[in-house]
Amino acid sequence: MNELRKRLKEVNRIFGTPTYVYKGGRIREKARTLRDAIPYFPTKVLYAMKANSNPEILKILKEEGVGVDAVSPGEVALGLRHDFFVLFTGNNVTDDEMDFVAEKGVMINIDSLSALERFGSRHCGKDVSIRINPDVGAGHHSHCITGGPESKFGIWHSQLDEALEIAKRNCLRIKGIHQHIGSQILETDKFLLAMDVLLKEAHRFPDLEFVNFGGGLGVPYNPEDRKLPVKRLGRMMSDKFLKFSHNYGKPVTMMIEPGRYLIADSGWLLVTVNTVKRNPDGRVFAGVDSGFNHLLRPAMYGSYHPIENVSNPKGKKEEVDIVGNICESGDRFAQERKISRVREGDVLAIGMAGAYGFSMSSHYNLRAKPAEVLMEKNYFSLIRKRESIYDVI
Ligand code: LLP
Repeated sequence: MNELRKRLKEVNRIFGTPTYVYKGGRIREKARTLRDAIPYFPTKVLYAMKANSNPEILKILKEEGVGVDAVSPGEVALGLRHDFFVLFTGNNVTDDEMDFVAEKGVMINIDSLSALERFGSRHCGKDVSIRINPDVGAGHHSHCITGGPESKFGIWHSQLDEALEIAKRNCLRIKGIHQHIGSQILETDKFLLAMDVLLKEAHRFPDLEFVNFGGGLGVPYNPEDRKLPVKRLGRMMSDKFLKFSHNYGKPVTMMIEPGRYLIADSGWLLVTVNTVKRNPDGRVFAGVDSGFNHLLRPAMYGSYHPIENVSNPKGKKEEVDIVGNICESGDRFAQERKISRVREGDVLAIGMAGAYGFSMSSHYNLRAKPAEVLMEKNYFSLIRKRESIYDVI
């Protein structure tokens, strides 16, 4: 931790704050851990780039052999620019978007019967994948549960006769089936249950080249969170899939598409305390030069992120509300958090910020986006320039 603290302080000295900092070595390590955890061959890992689409991060993951899960034409274009294998899993996709990905030669993973019909009428004879809602969902917040009756995603698992019929009528070959049940899942049971549903249906599709079980692999944000047993999950998934592909009669690729697992714990948002307010009732507010426009997760989901005062790590602990500069009361990174005494000018490192941090940032209140820095063993590099307000206005 001492070494890391030193390096984060160095980033602050060179680049200032607010700045996202990523540790390249950790991203590589996570990609390798995941690969080693899954004995089934062939397995393809698609990185869900919505978690963090900085091109330098993509380059690291490309070197680790992953493809990408893209959810918009923008993500498709960026994935192709960096020579990735891309699967496009859109939701409520327009005709123009369908045509765009088809022209680029990217396979579309279709999310509804109506979109399947529409795609078939425009691109008869193409290969497609379909997303299935297996009626199993999980995740850290209701906003992040993407399977089950309340979810807008996927073709309901009992409507697959219709899907097969639409595909046949339009000469579409269903080469893949897919599900993604939710995000930040820390137990294996829901993954395995959903997997059973999908594999039961898989036999009805004669042209399968892959079955994609989505992302959702969780990571501990809070020291009290449990850790997803990735090795055990990988082994159990492989066992199930091996049995399936034996019965299916030809080799099928197993796919997964994690975002957070690969990148969350390699990132920090560095911010500087500019205002300490000590109220008569004892409440302390540490106001920083950032806000939910840079890291939305605490405000949007009530998510916990570890926070360390890197300028005063040995200071006496006190309870503090760490708040941003956005004009809303929900603009809070942490409430009544025990942290080493904060002083104006101190730099705080908000941890576990590699995934869904910068990628969910906005210009709300006409504030500029932060810089991004990649930290490698022997050097730092600026991988996105800090915006100025003139970029925004
Ligand atoms: N595949 C699909 C189709 C997805 O929609 C997602 C995430 C993933 C894969 C990757 O999920 P992951 O492995 O990262 O859990 N903003 C929220 C997370 C939203 C996830 C949306 N879809 C958060 O900050 O917690």
